[in-house]
Amino acid sequence: MCGALAHLVERFHGMEEVRSSSLLRSTIINLMVDFYMKTILTGIRSNSVLTLGNYLGALLPMVRLANKHSKDSQINIFVPDLHSIISDVDGDLRENIIRTIKYYLAAGLEINENVHIYRQSYVPAHSELCWILNCVATMGETSRMTQYKEKSKGQESCNVGIFDYPILMAADILLYSATYVPIGEDQFQHIELTRNIAMRFNHKFGEIFTVPAKTADQVKFMEVSDGIRIRDLLNPEKKMSKSTKAENSKIMLDDDPAKAAKKIMSATTDSLGKVKFDMFNQPGVSNLLQIEALVNDVPLQDVVSAWAGTTRYGDLKSKVAESVSKMLVDFQAKMTEISDKQVCELLEKGEKYANGVANAKLLEVQRAFHLR
Ligand code: TYM
Repeated sequence: MCGALAHLVERFHGMEEVRSSSLLRSTIINLMVDFYMKTILTGIRSNSVLTLGNYLGALLPMVRLANKHSKDSQINIFVPDLHSIISDVDGDLRENIIRTIKYYLAAGLEINENVHIYRQSYVPAHSELCWILNCVATMGETSRMTQYKEKSKGQESCNVGIFDYPILMAADILLYSATYVPIGEDQFQHIELTRNIAMRFNHKFGEIFTVPAKTADQVKFMEVSDGIRIRDLLNPEKKMSKSTKAENSKIMLDDDPAKAAKKIMSATTDSLGKVKFDMFNQPGVSNLLQIEALVNDVPLQDVVSAWAGTTRYGDLKSKVAESVSKMLVDFQAKMTEISDKQVCELLEKGEKYANGVANAKLLEVQRAFHLR
């Protein structure tokens, strides 16, 4: 405790700016988060209706963790709208954002004073810190990001936002001292990059950033055996993605439940003729087992054991199709019960909180660079 206090005094000694009362309040919140509470944070872009992959891989795990930990942790759920504009947006971004927040509520997110919902672009500190971190990160480490390589592949000229995407993501995380960042497996590399940037910065300037947990610990915290990657239904070597053209390759959260069931029935499997969880040799069958476990919130191992030794892929597909269509019926009904007004009120409250916490952290960083 004494060490913690000494650290606080050292960090804030001479900070003229913390004399303003709202900044002081936010600074105190930051300190409490640093020393007493963990922050759990995640974001999902709102470029279109979400897929079952987004839902099972990121949204639902976050809702379960938030409900479990919101009494003793800060829960930050935000919409990275600046990340959205690196590519085309289907429909109106503002409407998509409201719909994304409704998804969390329809998935059962419980709101209390520790749950904060906000839009990235309504907290300008994200862009400001992104620029500063651009001067800490290296071209080499950013060029190695798989998502950047995939998104820029074949493009004659790729926008700089696609390249800088993970640095903005690092700013999103570090501003709020987040320890846990529930995300799908495709984003793990960005967490490792965030950790490296934070450690490099702290090494030079002192312990200003909380370094997020390692991906192995993130996975443990999410209580999933491994990172989640829901596969494309037609080409299970690939992840299910909203940008894939073929309609039958993905399930969208607004799909007609009967249509979604048909998509599952036409999913690609294999010719090995045994139901087994083996993502390497049987990705299609394994994907179905994984979906079945996540939709019903039961351990994957229980589902795998229940189907072990069976040979009829049609039976497995029918069961998964039934589970997914039932989930969609319930989920879509809940979506209609949530009003835009309810969402706007949450955003207004969340953005006030987020600006306070983010500005206080940004000020520490600006001072480290003698910008303030
Ligand atoms: P986005 O919108 O591309 O993806 C949102 C989340 O959905 C997960 N996901 C999947 N999980 C399992 N199987 C799939 N097929 C699948 N497809 C998508 C992604 O892993 C992700 O967790 N860069 C983030 C958005 C972001 C963010 C942040 C997240 C911006 N800043 C800070 C956390 C913290 C992204 O991938 O969004």
